Amino acid sequence: MAEIFWMNLAEIDALTAEGVAGAQQAATVDAVEAVRIQYLGRKGLLPQIMKGLKDFAPAERGAAGRSANAFKDSITAAIEARLLALRGAAGAVAGPAFDYTLPGSWRGLGSLHPVSLVITDAVRIFSRMGFAVAEGPDIENAYNNFEALNTPAHHPSLAETDTFWLGKGELLRTQTSPVQIRVMQSHPPPVRIITPGRCYRRDTTDATHSASFHQIEGLYVDRQVSLADLKGTLAAFMRAMMGPDVGVRFRPHFFPFTEPSVECDFSCHVCGGKGCRVCKQSGWIEIAGAGMVDPRVFGKVGYDAEAWTGFAFGMGVERIAMIKYGIPDIRMLYENDARFLAQFG
Ligand code: DAH
Repeated sequence: MAEIFWMNLAEIDALTAEGVAGAQQAATVDAVEAVRIQYLGRKGLLPQIMKGLKDFAPAERGAAGRSANAFKDSITAAIEARLLALRGAAGAVAGPAFDYTLPGSWRGLGSLHPVSLVITDAVRIFSRMGFAVAEGPDIENAYNNFEALNTPAHHPSLAETDTFWLGKGELLRTQTSPVQIRVMQSHPPPVRIITPGRCYRRDTTDATHSASFHQIEGLYVDRQVSLADLKGTLAAFMRAMMGPDVGVRFRPHFFPFTEPSVECDFSCHVCGGKGCRVCKQSGWIEIAGAGMVDPRVFGKVGYDAEAWTGFAFGMGVERIAMIKYGIPDIRMLYENDARFLAQFG
């Protein structure tokens, strides 16, 4: 690297002119960089000039300082100008023309998952009818999940093949119904809640089954609640969810925690009840299990079964999402394929 052995004002100004000319004549970006290193770099001329300032006679020192600043500023400016010119020229000659008619690059916003969409809708619809949202833990005890729900220890749903047991009487809840127990244990009647949440069963995955899925549970306890209230509530919900012309019917069924128990169907919104592929030609689609809360369940939570009555229901969220959005396979809801999910934005 060049070294300055002696220095005077004229010499600094000469070096300035040299550096400016070097920058202006540099043919490439690399050549400009070489000029920068030679004149302004850490081991280049500028630090030597700065160091040499102290050797000037006091009378000359001010002028020398100004020359040194001019050295730095002029060469820096020349380098920047040259780089701009070189890059601009390269861009103009070799770069692609800017086509302002091309669409901009995609900046997609995320969208809610279909399961979240159904839960959000359900919470909105039920809250208009006065239902609050309650939640419970995914890890439950056997008492809340089975016994308090009047499900005897010999019931097949307790079997190893249906339930994920965790040991010490704990399990992954197989239904959202245990939240009914939690709510009634901690609140005196009346109660009006829904509880959306995740459930787990040892099901083999196929087009309509998944080992983890979601339910929305409902519970309404008050004086003189009737089966008609249940039907009216579920009909209002289904019409808000699926469309105003949807009809609702009950079929007798059995659940340990309700008496009487029903399965609830709604008329197929695709064919209007005439029969099609979606409803398997029956005109009806099953949507929920429901019934009047069994007095024995009230007994478990300390509610007076003479004074209070109630209805409860439980429905599958994935099932509603699949019917509502025409999704043919439950596994599509868990694959997280962004192209699939983006359709629901
Ligand atoms: N827990 C039931 C299931 O997972 C669904 C159900 C049926 C919930 C009847 C209820 C009910 O609250 O009253 O199959």
